[in-house]
Amino acid sequence: MIQEDQFREIYSQQQGSTFVYDIDSFDIHLNDLVQSLPTQVKAYYATKANPLSSVIKCVNKNKIGIDVASIGEFKQALSCGVNPQDIIVTGPAKSKKHLEIYLKKGVNLFVIESKTQLYDLNELSESLDLTPRVLLRVQLVWPESGESVLGGNNITAFGLDIDQWQEVAVDKYSFLRFEGFHVFQWGNILDAQELYTIWKSIIHECQNLATQINVACKVIDFGGGWGIPYANGSPLDMTQVCTYLSKVLSENIFEEIYIELGRFAIGEFGYYMSHVIDRKIVRGKDILVLEGGMNHLIRPVLTNQSFPIKSLSSSKDELREFQLHGPLCSSLDTVGLHNLPDDTKIGDVLLFSQCGAYGFTESMPFFLCHDLPAEVIVKDKKTKILRDSVDASWWLR
Ligand SMILES: Cc1ncc(COP(=O)(O)O)c(C=O)c1O
Repeated sequence: MIQEDQFREIYSQQQGSTFVYDIDSFDIHLNDLVQSLPTQVKAYYATKANPLSSVIKCVNKNKIGIDVASIGEFKQALSCGVNPQDIIVTGPAKSKKHLEIYLKKGVNLFVIESKTQLYDLNELSESLDLTPRVLLRVQLVWPESGESVLGGNNITAFGLDIDQWQEVAVDKYSFLRFEGFHVFQWGNILDAQELYTIWKSIIHECQNLATQINVACKVIDFGGGWGIPYANGSPLDMTQVCTYLSKVLSENIFEEIYIELGRFAIGEFGYYMSHVIDRKIVRGKDILVLEGGMNHLIRPVLTNQSFPIKSLSSSKDELREFQLHGPLCSSLDTVGLHNLPDDTKIGDVLLFSQCGAYGFTESMPFFLCHDLPAEVIVKDKKTKILRDSVDASWWLR
């Protein structure tokens, strides 16, 4: 755990918005995760959640596989020493050129999301004399609606529906080893029972499809979706999750379960600090304008759900509700409503927690040419600056 004084010290060195990642606690968390999962459950880390090299190296050290969804993520994983055999490739935008790169570099496991991907991978495998393993990504129709970054019940580009997969004659793709299915449509779930209900539906639909199109039921990949609490709610109960995973394994014919965790893996181990640039009252509302908003952290805008925030500069008990905004000239750039010390003033530093996943790399840092935030890790109890804050001259040409 990083103490508040350490955060203050880091901020006083950086003098600007900064992400801090607690790699020591992350390492312990991953080790606990690996120890508690049933043996037939294989964990991957979803690189998109946080592609920082210190994060990937820690994942790799804990013998967790790597899920990549782009060539950029793939190159980053390789540069961190990840063995291509430990990589699973997901994502709806796999061009033939990219598939060829993955195959030539030794990747052996692909989540296939369209008929074009299937055709291209088979053709490339034939020409390279390879037989990669394949999971078919299925987009199911759900009885319930609801918000999810993964689309939930909306029609999205992830995978194909059952009708479309039923049209595929897998025997024609003789250079691919069909081992099962991938289904992932619901995100940030905090209730183990809800995960179990979703998994049971997935298994039911995929077992039927497997029989219809003659695909082996070796692997079922549930993707991610394990949540962390942002505003309220209790953390996901890992003991319960593992009990349900064992139950699912005992109740169905798939031999192995794969999971690809992003948020649950790294979310709780990232922090973000920014300071107050201005304080004012507009039409009766107390407003704080911060140095960083959606240019550094876009999640509150995308999900309408903010991060937990506390002041590192004031400990006054008397609180006031402030409407927080980022620095961009867009009314979209809101950081949420927060109760902060009444005496919050210009220059005060705010600490955001739960920022390890979908933080800096999901944001829109270039609009308005503000500075990029610094990135710092704490590893072996020591602070290491990965990148100081840089101004726009760094990328403007
Ligand atoms: C294919 C795939 N797997 C895993 C994840 C990670 O999801 P989560 O962060 O909910 O664990 C994502 C996130 O978008 C994804 O697209």
